[in-house]
Amino acid sequence: MSDDIVLDEFGYDEPTLDKLFETLKKEVISSSENYSQEAFKLHWLGRKQGRLKVLSEAWLKSAPPEARKPLGIRFNQLKQQIEAALEAPATTTRAAQAGASIDITLPGTTRAPGIPHPLLKTMQEIVAVFHHLGYSTNLGPQVESDFYNFEALNFPPNHPARDTQDTLVIASQQSRPSRDRLLMRTHTSPVQIRTMIDQPPPVRIVIPGKVHRNDAADATHSPIFHQVEGLCVDTNITFSDLKGTLDHAMKALFGSAVKTRFFPSFFPFTEPSADVQISCIFCNGKGCRKCKHSGWIELLGCGMVDPAVFAAIDEQRAAQGKSPAYNPEKITGFAFGMGVERIAMIQHGISDIGHFYSGDMRFLEQFA
Ligand code: PHE
Repeated sequence: MSDDIVLDEFGYDEPTLDKLFETLKKEVISSSENYSQEAFKLHWLGRKQGRLKVLSEAWLKSAPPEARKPLGIRFNQLKQQIEAALEAPATTTRAAQAGASIDITLPGTTRAPGIPHPLLKTMQEIVAVFHHLGYSTNLGPQVESDFYNFEALNFPPNHPARDTQDTLVIASQQSRPSRDRLLMRTHTSPVQIRTMIDQPPPVRIVIPGKVHRNDAADATHSPIFHQVEGLCVDTNITFSDLKGTLDHAMKALFGSAVKTRFFPSFFPFTEPSADVQISCIFCNGKGCRKCKHSGWIELLGCGMVDPAVFAAIDEQRAAQGKSPAYNPEKITGFAFGMGVERIAMIQHGISDIGHFYSGDMRFLEQFA
């Protein structure tokens, strides 16, 4: 190693110095190829033990006065070479910067490209199914008012149906009228209301987004999760349109062998309402642990838009100076809402919802 060299033995004439610094330059190149950028920096420029510091101190100290200048110049050049090598991004380029030729036969430095998060991927898949049916996408705020999240959706103040929504409310809103109080939206349905106040029928929209509920996290619950909502409003929309649309969507998502069935349910903003089940994709409906031996998996809620919702829309449209457009005698529609996490978990056989939010690369990389 060149720091073992005692300069006094060689003398301080310029040819000797040139030879020594040539050796050091080569060392810079080879270490820039073999060390990580951080190790390289520490090795040469470390404040206490860095090679540049150790060498220049030792050599300058023992040099006769007339040799200090040529030594200083060469140390400066060496430092510049080290810094240039550090600025170049990849190892091979660093070496090239330091004066070496590039060996194009070496394997390249690969960078892992980013991939869509599995949840976003599923959300986009669901949305794409409806885009193909002519739906467009609408978005809305996550901090929502009581009016849009509840009242216009036919949840009157203090109605027990609100209990199903485990709402997280924003603090210090008591002085406001109840309909203006802010909360974290518990579902994507408020965007149905925002859309209909905004535009007359026909409406065909999907609404993907984050929703919030005061749920304790466990294997199947998370206080923040994602939904995709759908709304179709026009003249002559019937329950069979709803059934046909959702049956198609489930087949598009889970394969054409999947069957659907509809069970009576309740949501304040749809009448009649239904829960949709699909035949278990793990056992083809025979019954297994995943479907609790029923052969069916419950997947989403839906129903025909309640006339009370249309009435609230037209009332609000009037208040904004817009013409009424949602006369329930002429206009009908259906709505549906599904949980993205639940669908992604079934698609990929994931048993713990927490994996989606852990940021664990070993989990995420499986979806690359
Ligand atoms: N918003 C409902 C929920 O989150 C789901 C739903 C959407 C039901 C649209 C019917 C129609 O519980």
